[in-house]
Amino acid sequence: MKFFADTADTAAIRELAEAGLIDGVTTNPSLIHKAGRDFIEVTKEICALVDGPVSAEVVALDHPTMMREAETLRKIADNVCIKVPLTIDGLKTCRALTGDGTMVNVTLCFSANQALLAAKAGATFVSPFLGRHDDNGWDGLDLIRDIRLIYDNYDFATEILAASIRHSVHVLECARIGADVMTAPPAVIKGLANHVLTDKGIEGFVADWAKTGQTIPLD
Ligand code: G3P
Repeated sequence: MKFFADTADTAAIRELAEAGLIDGVTTNPSLIHKAGRDFIEVTKEICALVDGPVSAEVVALDHPTMMREAETLRKIADNVCIKVPLTIDGLKTCRALTGDGTMVNVTLCFSANQALLAAKAGATFVSPFLGRHDDNGWDGLDLIRDIRLIYDNYDFATEILAASIRHSVHVLECARIGADVMTAPPAVIKGLANHVLTDKGIEGFVADWAKTGQTIPLD
């Protein structure tokens, strides 16, 4: 499963990229607002930090204006992936953009039927929002399972990008189900390294090593 960082915080992206932990980045208008940076400028910086896809979202609601915004965004870098909402206008934009080789992430997916439409429109990625699904009383993991089943039934090439990930159990279950990608806040990705027994083990080794009185010679 590929890992994308769901953030526009360039320092956090740099840290994860240097550790080899991320394959791409997703942003959205709320994350751009949180970063407090110019959209085009920060997207350009992010695109230089990672080799993989960087989702940048259009904000227009009608197809012609979405196309014009996408035109601006895709000039930022070769690894820009245009993010469009799961609406008929968004799907029209998806079809037009993927038809000429641009990556498209169809976002705000909350049902398996919507994901079916995204695949039919040729989306590179579809983003089911797991956490927001859970928040509203449905089971987000069931949604990912249904989409996986449907895409496999018909060999759709669209990748399932599990979004709105809130915690490590979401990550684990998405990997079990076979989501192609998951995007999560940097803290969730870094948190996957945590284990109480790892901390306890380090503590024990450090204490025992001190008792040997030895040091490892440094070059
Ligand atoms: O990038 C879209 C998605 O991951 C948003 O997550 O936590 O705002 O529901 P959240």
